[in-house]
Amino acid sequence: MPLGVFDSGIGGLTVVRALRAAFPARDILYVGDTARVPYGNKSAETVLTYSREIVDFLEKKGAERIVVACNTASALAVPFLAKAANVPIHGMIASGVTAALEAGEGPVGVIGTSATIASGAYQQALAKARPGLKVVAVATPLLVPLVEEGWLEGEVTERVVGRYLEPMIRAKIRVLVLACTHYPLLKTVLGRVLGPEVKMVDSSEACAASLQSNEGQRIEKGGLKIFLTDEPGSFLGRVESFLGKGSVGSIERIHLPHS
Ligand code: DGL
Repeated sequence: MPLGVFDSGIGGLTVVRALRAAFPARDILYVGDTARVPYGNKSAETVLTYSREIVDFLEKKGAERIVVACNTASALAVPFLAKAANVPIHGMIASGVTAALEAGEGPVGVIGTSATIASGAYQQALAKARPGLKVVAVATPLLVPLVEEGWLEGEVTERVVGRYLEPMIRAKIRVLVLACTHYPLLKTVLGRVLGPEVKMVDSSEACAASLQSNEGQRIEKGGLKIFLTDEPGSFLGRVESFLGKGSVGSIERIHLPHS
């Protein structure tokens, strides 16, 4: 039975990459809500409406469980989706928090979209799991457009990252949670700015690792079907440059009630 995965756009492919490594035999159905991206500056109500439509779509396509790759949707919608859905729903937060606590003892930094950070979801989950833990959470909205432009390194990106991370450096964080689909692609710059003593938690890898512990490995290769709410345009080329040539079985435009 296929795994369903969704994100507001292309960023969730970081999660698909981690899931394919963890579950090589599984077919994956991926919805990229390219007509309505970004989610990171939208209200909780809107993100929930969009997420519900995608969960319905993936359930109808036969997904056996659904991974909410988008951290914004994980923070704003997963508790409500999990109650209403007929299949298990996995957000990014619980696994990210577990991985952050396993990574070290000191203060923890969290970076995410404006909506993710404003929701307080990561801050609350960390405080609950380790009372008294110092958490520095910063919204870093300029990082998604930088990644979308392919500016993964260079002076401008480093200066933006440096400015955002100032409070984290002052607080001497020991762990940084990359609470957004796009940020794993900025690991090099983030590492340069923070220094080697700060461990980074990639929420895509943390999520795949937490799911894998429930399932054994098989060898045969699963396929990847992609559904987009807008015209595919250059999407296929971008996916293949990220996941490898021939990695996509099919790509299809879909229409959801509000897209
Ligand atoms: N996918 C979103 C997330 O992980 C980032 C892009 C957006 O704002 O939609 O939070």
